[in-house]
Amino acid sequence: MNIEFILNGKPVQAQAPADTSLLAFLRDTLGLTGTKEGCGIGECGACSVLLDGRLINSCLTLAAQASGRQVVTIEGLCNPDGGPSDLQQAFIHYGAVQCGFCIPGMVLAGEALLSANSRPSRIEIREAIAGNLCRCTGYQQIVDAIQATAAHRQEKIQHG
Ligand code: FES
Ligand code: FES
Repeated sequence: MNIEFILNGKPVQAQAPADTSLLAFLRDTLGLTGTKEGCGIGECGACSVLLDGRLINSCLTLAAQASGRQVVTIEGLCNPDGGPSDLQQAFIHYGAVQCGFCIPGMVLAGEALLSANSRPSRIEIREAIAGNLCRCTGYQQIVDAIQATAAHRQEKIQHG
């Protein structure tokens, strides 16, 4: 079937079988491999993307369900100059990236949280990333990175 949606701000269109997951469509059809496949059954969050701004597991979502909607993957989060976003930089700065496998999903979970709650508590950050498993970091540095980005964005709003 024909599948069309807005991906990272640009229209994409391709043919795929009706049972193709959004994860497979992104990785195999469109060649965007930033979105990772971990468990494939909705338990690890490695495949997280934003669908109309909401964090979803792309392994459990059909590509066809994205038709006519907005999808954002990790490739869509960089700065206009192509460099890492402030949240991605904070992940690096706080040592929140080890093997890196969970990180695209974690960063998207962080963005989804910060767009809904600009001043999250550490508990709220923990809750927001509860569906994203990390085997390496112990989560502390990930929470630090998201919290620091929230504070930095607030500061920017206040001081221009
Ligand atoms: S690969 Fe989708 S939740 Fe694990
Ligand atoms: S950094 Fe390795 S799984 Fe999270």
